[in-house]
Amino acid sequence: MRYFADKQDVVQDIFSRYPDTERGRRSALMPLLREVQNAFGYVPEENIEEIASLLGNTATEVKSVMSFYSTYHTIPTGKHHLQVCATLSCAIAGSDELWDHLVDTLGIQQGEITKDGLFSIQKVECLGSCGTAPMLQINDEGYHECVSKKRIKLLLDQFRRGEPFNPDILPPIPIHAGQQELENGLPAGGLATTLPSLVEGEA
Ligand code: FES
Repeated sequence: MRYFADKQDVVQDIFSRYPDTERGRRSALMPLLREVQNAFGYVPEENIEEIASLLGNTATEVKSVMSFYSTYHTIPTGKHHLQVCATLSCAIAGSDELWDHLVDTLGIQQGEITKDGLFSIQKVECLGSCGTAPMLQINDEGYHECVSKKRIKLLLDQFRRGEPFNPDILPPIPIHAGQQELENGLPAGGLATTLPSLVEGEA
């Protein structure tokens, strides 16, 4: 299904933000992708080709840009798309264990959706909050710091009840750094050497 067939005003509005040149039109790629993904939750193959044709690109060029950004999806995702940071600080802080825990708990692998359509999972690169590893992002918003198994259970239970995420249900994050560590300028509660206890612990 062509998404933009009856949305020429949207296309023109997006193109108007960029220079009216071949290269300028190509700059419209990201907002065009965002339009389709907001509508369907992912960008279907036929719409990749549609966008490529609007821009004068090939579908392969569009896919190459999409593959650089984990935020764009070529396959459907669950209502709550859980993205686990797998980069170094989070890996040291236990994100591998969190990933395995999600795989076991939800019974899915990356690229799959739970039978109820609620959840899908994805490993992503650094979410920009390495000091509060391990980090979890849900959909395009909802960043969660110092994620533990207990915090994941609270989140999943809340979503299964159909409730929007309420940060007030989460217990406070314990601070592990001692006075000496603080005086040395190390982050409180963000020490990679202390955070694996958060993954296993009750926080
Ligand atoms: S390494 Fe995970 S947020 Fe930076």
